[in-house]
Amino acid sequence: MYFTTLLSVTLLLAATEATGVARNPYNCMSFVVPVPVDNVTLVVPPFPDFPDQYAATAFANEVTKQITFPGPSPDANLTTLTTTFDISAEYCTPATANPKSPTLLILTHGIGFNRSYWDFYLPGTPDDAQYSYINRVTAAGYSTLSWNRLGIEPSTIPDPYRELQSLVELAVLTSLTTLVRAGKIAQVPQPQKVVHVGHSWGSILSNALAAVAPGLSDGLVLTGYSHLVTYQNLFIADTSFHIASQNQPDRFPNQTYSTGFLTWPDKYANQFSFLLYPYFDPVVLDRAEETKYPFTVGEFLTAATLPLEAPQFQGPVLYLAAEADLIFCASNCTAFFGPDSAAVEAFNGSKSVETYIQPRVGHGINLHKNATGAYDVVLDWASRHGF
Ligand SMILES: *[C@@H]1O[C@H](CO)[C@@H](O)[C@H](O)[C@H]1NC(C)=O
Ligand SMILES: *[C@@H]1O[C@H](CO)[C@@H](O)[C@H](O)[C@H]1NC(C)=O
Ligand SMILES: *[C@@H]1O[C@H](CO)[C@@H](O)[C@H](O)[C@H]1NC(C)=O
Ligand SMILES: *[C@@H]1O[C@H](CO)[C@@H](O)[C@H](O)[C@H]1NC(C)=O
Ligand SMILES: *[C@@H]1O[C@H](CO)[C@@H](O)[C@H](O)[C@H]1NC(C)=O
Ligand SMILES: *[C@@H]1O[C@H](CO)[C@@H](O)[C@H](O)[C@H]1NC(C)=O
Ligand SMILES: *[C@@H]1O[C@H](CO)[C@@H](O)[C@H](O)[C@H]1NC(C)=O
Repeated sequence: MYFTTLLSVTLLLAATEATGVARNPYNCMSFVVPVPVDNVTLVVPPFPDFPDQYAATAFANEVTKQITFPGPSPDANLTTLTTTFDISAEYCTPATANPKSPTLLILTHGIGFNRSYWDFYLPGTPDDAQYSYINRVTAAGYSTLSWNRLGIEPSTIPDPYRELQSLVELAVLTSLTTLVRAGKIAQVPQPQKVVHVGHSWGSILSNALAAVAPGLSDGLVLTGYSHLVTYQNLFIADTSFHIASQNQPDRFPNQTYSTGFLTWPDKYANQFSFLLYPYFDPVVLDRAEETKYPFTVGEFLTAATLPLEAPQFQGPVLYLAAEADLIFCASNCTAFFGPDSAAVEAFNGSKSVETYIQPRVGHGINLHKNATGAYDVVLDWASRHGF
């Protein structure tokens, strides 16, 4: 029965996908914002930098012993960080004025991508906007601010062991949001409302922002995220923590990317963690692999320090889950979004928590053939909640 359904959907897709999606008129401006962070707690790694791939892979073995996010040990040595990072960002807005444009969607990408995750085009078909989230939401009138997280060029590339840690990334999102809300980023008109939209690790950071600074966000859209971290081990095993500078030496020279920058081995590992066959175009997988970005030891060492319970957050929340999300659901999200789920209970002070399971997609929702179907779910939610 199930396979019959799959087959008929495949045929339908094959019949409709050829047309693509026309690009709507939207204007974007890219710039670099200096983003200060103040007195952020850092964990001193309790081991030396990896000398080689054997040590990195052994760390993957260590991390997969646990079914929660790995955290620093109680006797960990702590330091603090006060600095200013360069953050590469892009503001996009509809070409013609729209009453919804003062609502700004802050788009935070996940592990393995830069902010082009939100504005994905294939080089061979630059006019086909079928994967572009920004194209879809600006057509509906909204403005967007997407940014490259720390470690993703041309944003600052800090030390991946000692500095590029989870609380630092949260501090950057918090500081960036504070600046934009106050109208202090010259290129971005001061917004009336701010909605945080995340994918994967970007959803975790957006969730943590709502926990530590609930007043900074008017609404949350958490995509590719279930609030459960039990299954991240599947992702770690898939990557076995390949050292990025050895995996793609031309893009990640070891002078800039030390052994603390990690990735997965190849495009099939990428598919395994991010995509559901046959609902993606192999050309998209090739492009995603060619343009992938690494994650860091520091992120894994400190992930458990991010607060994810957000009882003070009052705005509406939408979870847009991928039905076959490997990383957050072991490839079947069906059971994890009910009223008593950890996902929903994390926001027990919110006026509305909605959950939606996008069918026939893996973790990398925006890279599937039906990406626009998922975008329309977000737009429907946004308009129903007055954004
Ligand atoms: C930095 O934060 C710590 C707590 O994490 C606090 O004890 C200390 O006073 C803070 N230092 C400054 C200069 O604010
Ligand atoms: C903390 O730092 C001290 C002094 O450098 C070192 O001996 C100890 O092993 C460190 N502990 C941890 C858990 O990193
Ligand atoms: C860094 O990369 C260069 C060029 O690939 C290589 O010759 C060198 O051995 C590498 N250094 C380290 C420390 O791995
Ligand atoms: C994302 O990365 C790709 C590959 O390095 C690059 O071509 C593209 O310009 C980057 N986009 C942004 C917005 O940084
Ligand atoms: C909401 O969750 C918090 C923990 O995050 C808990 O302390 C609080 O009692 C919960 N409130 C309600 C009304 O369930
Ligand atoms: C997904 O899990 C649900 C129960 O949680 C089960 O009923 C369903 O058959 C599973 N779907 C697939 C495709 O395995
Ligand atoms: C595309 O996504 C929409 C929204 O979730 C869904 O209703 C529709 O069934 C999906 N279409 C396919 C072919 O998967």
